[in-house]
Amino acid sequence: MTETQKSATLSLNGETYELPIFSPTAGPDVLDIRKLYAQAGVFTYDPGFTSTASCDSTITYIDGGKGELLHRGYPIDQLASKSHYLEVCYLLLYGELPTAAQLEDFETRVTRHTMVHEQMHNFFRGFRRDAHPMATLVGVVGAMSAFYHDSLDVTDPWQREVAAVRLIAKLPTIAAMAYKYSIGQPFVYPKNDLDYSANFLHMCFSVPSEEYHVNPILSRAMDRIFILHADHEQNASTSTVRLASSSGANPFACIAAGIACLWGPAHGGANQACLEMLKEIGSVDRIPEFIERAKDKNDPFRLMGFGHRVYKNTDPRAKVLKQSADEVLELLGVEDNPLLQVAKELEQTALNDPYFIEKKLFPNVDFYSGIILEAMGFPTSMFTPIFALSRTVGWISQWKEMIADPQNKIGRPRQLYLGETMRDYTDIEKR
Ligand code: ACO
Repeated sequence: MTETQKSATLSLNGETYELPIFSPTAGPDVLDIRKLYAQAGVFTYDPGFTSTASCDSTITYIDGGKGELLHRGYPIDQLASKSHYLEVCYLLLYGELPTAAQLEDFETRVTRHTMVHEQMHNFFRGFRRDAHPMATLVGVVGAMSAFYHDSLDVTDPWQREVAAVRLIAKLPTIAAMAYKYSIGQPFVYPKNDLDYSANFLHMCFSVPSEEYHVNPILSRAMDRIFILHADHEQNASTSTVRLASSSGANPFACIAAGIACLWGPAHGGANQACLEMLKEIGSVDRIPEFIERAKDKNDPFRLMGFGHRVYKNTDPRAKVLKQSADEVLELLGVEDNPLLQVAKELEQTALNDPYFIEKKLFPNVDFYSGIILEAMGFPTSMFTPIFALSRTVGWISQWKEMIADPQNKIGRPRQLYLGETMRDYTDIEKR
């Protein structure tokens, strides 16, 4: 970030104030208003942070107009086609693509941490069997702070590193355990001769009584889903993690806060909501009815998997996933999957409809991911946990960046107060 010679002038009540302007390496200039309240006695008002940069970061860049997503400068489509998830994790965490030796060391460290503390099995058993796996995930990840006391001190860089590796390594195990618990099957221990994605499929779909062979095409598709969800700059859940950690809270508590935020249908919960919507639509002849509902201001229905705060063009992740959906369904011999037909037709209808064109609403990452996950055998309730486990590396990378930043302060937004001014308490019998 460089402070340019440029500045903006604010005129207020006969006074003028110079606001410095920062030029990022990519993206629009940023007005520095940090001293505004101290100097001019006013706040800025920006609910939803539509015009506010909450931090500086070097991890991920999105150009919403072009539909471009870069991790440490590398385009997401190149990473999805040439890299694999743990290499992308390394890139996000440490800033550069690893050498072969660095990658091997990182993979070994992650792999050695895939088991969870045995006592956590008992912790799982306290949940109702019909709990949503996201509910279980929020609880268990928060509870990691009760199990891993040697990686709670956020002021110690080594403990931060251990917490990061533990979270990346254990999230698939915990997500798979949440799934197994919900269907009444025994927990499956990780198998460390499998790669990260194959191991996750093994923990979800194998049972002790039978041999299970992971199909390499499916584990590659799984890996691609993990890569595409790995980070997305200052979205709601990442900002939640940053805000939670700004108070110095431990990493497991902060990631649990991110998972809670991700669960909502406007964010990570959209993949479940989208598949449920496609099922509700059911056949292509019902598409016009749902398009009309999505456009009706008096109907709360929205086209799930469509629209994005930042992308005003196709979400590049959706492009990769559309292709992946075709490949996976062909492999599984279900190319004529009715949900895929509905999804493709719905996408075309929306993209040609003036309402969606004018509002720049395009398919997002959640539009096709559910179709792939369902074809792989996951129930809809597992879609958001899979998003959460993929995004953990993004949350952790942003968390590490924030803690190491000397400018780090507790996050404390201001407000535009519109309530009552001071008034006297009225005794209950007089109300
Ligand atoms: N269907 C119909 N209309 C929509 C949709 C949609 N999916 N998305 C936005 N719009 C309309 C809004 O009604 C609004 O219209 P208006 O200007 O006439 O009031 C306009 O487009 C702008 O929408 P906002 O909600 O103001 O945009 P915002 O940036 O706040 O919301 C969001 C983005 C939450 C993603 C929204 O597009 C949405 O709800 N989409 C459906 C849920 C979804 O797919 N979420 C996943 C996001 S990606 C992710 O988290 C991984």
